[in-house]
Amino acid sequence: MSKQQFDVLVIGGGPGGYVAAIRAAQLGFKTACAESNPYADPKGEPRLGGTCLNVGCIPSKALLHTSHMFEEASHDFAEQGIKVGTPSIDVPTMIARKAKIVDQLTGGIKGLFKKNKVTMLSGHGSFVGQTADGWDVKVGDEVVEAKQVIVATGSTARHLPGIEVDNTLICDNIGALDLGAVPKRLGLIGSGVIGLEMGSVWRRLGSEVTILEAMDSFLGAADQDVAKEAQKVFTKQGLAIKLGVKVGKVTPAKNKKSVTVEFEDKDGAQKAVFDKLIISVGRVPNTAGLNAEAVGLKLTDRGMVDVNDHCQTNLPGVWAVGDVVRGPMLAHKAMEEAVMVAELMAGQAGHCNFDTIPWVIYTSPEIAWVGKTEQQLKADGVAYRAGKIPFMANGRALGMGAPTGFVKMLACAETDRILGVHIIGANASELISEAVVAMEFHGAAEDLARICHAHPTMSEAVHEAALAVDKRPLHF
Ligand code: FAD
Ligand code: NAI
Repeated sequence: MSKQQFDVLVIGGGPGGYVAAIRAAQLGFKTACAESNPYADPKGEPRLGGTCLNVGCIPSKALLHTSHMFEEASHDFAEQGIKVGTPSIDVPTMIARKAKIVDQLTGGIKGLFKKNKVTMLSGHGSFVGQTADGWDVKVGDEVVEAKQVIVATGSTARHLPGIEVDNTLICDNIGALDLGAVPKRLGLIGSGVIGLEMGSVWRRLGSEVTILEAMDSFLGAADQDVAKEAQKVFTKQGLAIKLGVKVGKVTPAKNKKSVTVEFEDKDGAQKAVFDKLIISVGRVPNTAGLNAEAVGLKLTDRGMVDVNDHCQTNLPGVWAVGDVVRGPMLAHKAMEEAVMVAELMAGQAGHCNFDTIPWVIYTSPEIAWVGKTEQQLKADGVAYRAGKIPFMANGRALGMGAPTGFVKMLACAETDRILGVHIIGANASELISEAVVAMEFHGAAEDLARICHAHPTMSEAVHEAALAVDKRPLHF
């Protein structure tokens, strides 16, 4: 049987891979996408959507929504005069709803592949070698040939030596999104994005949550004003966040119903017993099964595929996008790179602006930012002006019962160009888009200050922050 031949083969069907495949097909390339994950759909085929749709962004946001509603019903309805008695949570129903959303979206991508004539190949992809016209890649048991290959194999949770993740008692993101009941005592190692989002879900539903973080500072990548406010609010909500922790021995009980974690912090050596433990200490790129070394595909010392700003690797016709390459491990960053690569392959001017990739943490309040933090500007010696407006001064926020947080805008002292926007508050995930657009158009704070914002909206706080950069806020 002759080899199947394609113009473009994408290895990996996550946000980087499926978007690259769709855009390549739209541009007229005969395209295939190989996917090997174990999340089979009803036909027994791997599900598309990668980490994001199966065990990441989408299921976590579904659980965050349910738990947020539960918390509102438990604590916030009464002050608005709504009486619902004491709500209870049916965890299996919550998990089944999440699974249904995952089913719908992962199935939807198969539909998008059909619509765009992308061939899906079920199986693990690994390089065989270069051919006269491209690359041979083994997918499952079959070898296919493609003129160009996009590696989009993503990442998996980093585990810690000596701590066995079984995704029942000790979980990474996969088990954390599938707990069958609310654990009484939940421990998390790592107070990064997953630690805070998953810690919030289970705290809202009734767990006593303790987060053990190695660093002395909290949310080091965020603007420190935002980080300080967040730490204060999350602690008040009941997340016990311990910083500067060195985790030692982790011992599951014989009956596997609890786990003891030994650790040391500023208060000395301690022990804590948890009913579930979630390890959320970052992610590692999936490059192990690619046969990279044999074909000379260059990896970085962190095991990522080495790429330039255009996502080109050291091999001709081989590109890589998403979590498997440098930069933030975010779905929208993966998708942006994917479109860029497909357009560059078609001879178009694909581009990806790494300076305007937004970050969002979907806690309550939400945290979102784009651009430079105040501490980065100080370190770089950049002269800036800052405008900061609390949501307490925003009528819509008060009406919604969400007065916590603020918008902070940083602009160049000389040119007024917006350098960074940092938001902690309800709907920060949506509000940040205005800042991204303004920065993408090289906008100044004055540009946002002179744009009419609907009243009453949370976005008026962004407007006021822009006015505050010039020390002329109207409502604060
Ligand atoms: P992946 O999504 O990891 O997809 C890679 C795919 O390639 C996988 O399906 C894998 O099975 C497949 N694969 C790997 N090797 C091979 C091979 N050799 N052959 C065939 N297939 C292969 N990001 C956000 O932007 N917003 C969020 O809210 C957010 N929430 C998250 C919550 C959690 C709990 C987690 C874990 C992550 C979250 N992320 C979020 C990060 C986001 O999921 C990733 O950045 C994104 O999925 C990366 O896309 P990708 O295509 O590069 O890789
Ligand atoms: P993370 O990098 O956000 O946080 C990991 C945390 O663990 C850090 O604070 C780190 O200091 C700490 N840590 C590392 N080793 C440790 C140790 N031995 N003991 C104690 N603490 C330790 O990683 P996380 O939370 O696992 O998430 C992985 C990635 O997934 C994120 O970086 C992000 O790219 C993506 N993600 C994005 C989300 C979003 O956009 N809302 C949501 C969830 C994940």
